[in-house]
Amino acid sequence: MSPFALTRTLPLDATAAALRADVATGLTRSPKELPPKWFYDARGSELFDEITELPEYYPTRAEREILVARAGEIAEATGARTLVELGSGSSDKTRHLIRALPALDTYVPVDVSESALTGAAEVLLAEHPELTVHALIADFQYGLPLPDTPGPRLLAFLGGTIGNLQPDERAAFFAGVRAELAPGDALLLGTDLVKDERTLVAAYDDAAGVTAAFNKNVLEVVNRELGADFDPGDFDHVALWDAEREWIEMRLRARSAVVVKVPALDLAVHFAAGEELRTEVSAKFRRAGVRAELAAAGLESTHWWTDEQGRFALSLSVPVSLPV
Ligand code: SAH
Ligand code: AVI
Repeated sequence: MSPFALTRTLPLDATAAALRADVATGLTRSPKELPPKWFYDARGSELFDEITELPEYYPTRAEREILVARAGEIAEATGARTLVELGSGSSDKTRHLIRALPALDTYVPVDVSESALTGAAEVLLAEHPELTVHALIADFQYGLPLPDTPGPRLLAFLGGTIGNLQPDERAAFFAGVRAELAPGDALLLGTDLVKDERTLVAAYDDAAGVTAAFNKNVLEVVNRELGADFDPGDFDHVALWDAEREWIEMRLRARSAVVVKVPALDLAVHFAAGEELRTEVSAKFRRAGVRAELAAAGLESTHWWTDEQGRFALSLSVPVSLPV
């Protein structure tokens, strides 16, 4: 068998239809909103990788520190033969895990970004010619049609991407993950932690303007895919901390009144001067909250590790029965 397979579980026309539906709904409601998954075309994936190198963006470095320190313990606790990774992106940090798992046979990266998946697989297969890589272009919010691979399976969801889902979406996501896990399998979850506002806002509003470009990239995606005429220069990047919900919000604020045409939807979208379009939430967590959300889905937390500075956490959990 070839060591690399790429499967598209969502047909291209389904992805296009999902974007049309999200834009039609999100730009006609008040307040306006688009889901963050549309950031990640090839350019958006590149910009995200640049973000991970920024001095202000600590989560990637903090999570890598934990992975380097704990990969051996994770390997021992799980004995994984298959590693499934949701929202795998460049799979860069995952390499610490792959190296540490002695019994690993198959890696299943799952992402909406085809360019991220093929780029990551190329690097990984060069490093690990013995590994089978079965990449899935899929939306992890719409079922997990995972291939039949050897157990035990370790399902990893790194980077704090769980925080980009709304609370109700998180509950549905964890329930879907729980349904995929058999006895002996485990979930490895990365969560960014609540900390001081200055550190958080700086991580989402960097001095070099890379996060601003990433945020505005969603407008380029809508322009290209739906023929819209957004001028990214008409909008300012906004990052703010919502202390009550304990999440960062990224928004795009119209500099002046503007009308944007979206021909594929036969739509004209009016922005008032100063009106904002929410493009992302990035929730920050506390240990008790993570444990409770996992437990509600039938997942019992067995390990909790943080970096030295306590900025980010990795937790391991296993499936248990929900009380009837
Ligand atoms: N895990 C990597 C990448 C995080 S960036 C890291 O820790 O650095 C978030 C990744 O999730 C991107 O590659 C993006 O394309 C992917 N993604 C976002 N929403 C998704 C969805 N609904 N389904 C599948 N992948 C998604
Ligand atoms: C992928 N995700 C966890 C990132 C985050 O920090 O919420 C996406 C991001 N948005 C702005 N910068 C990075």
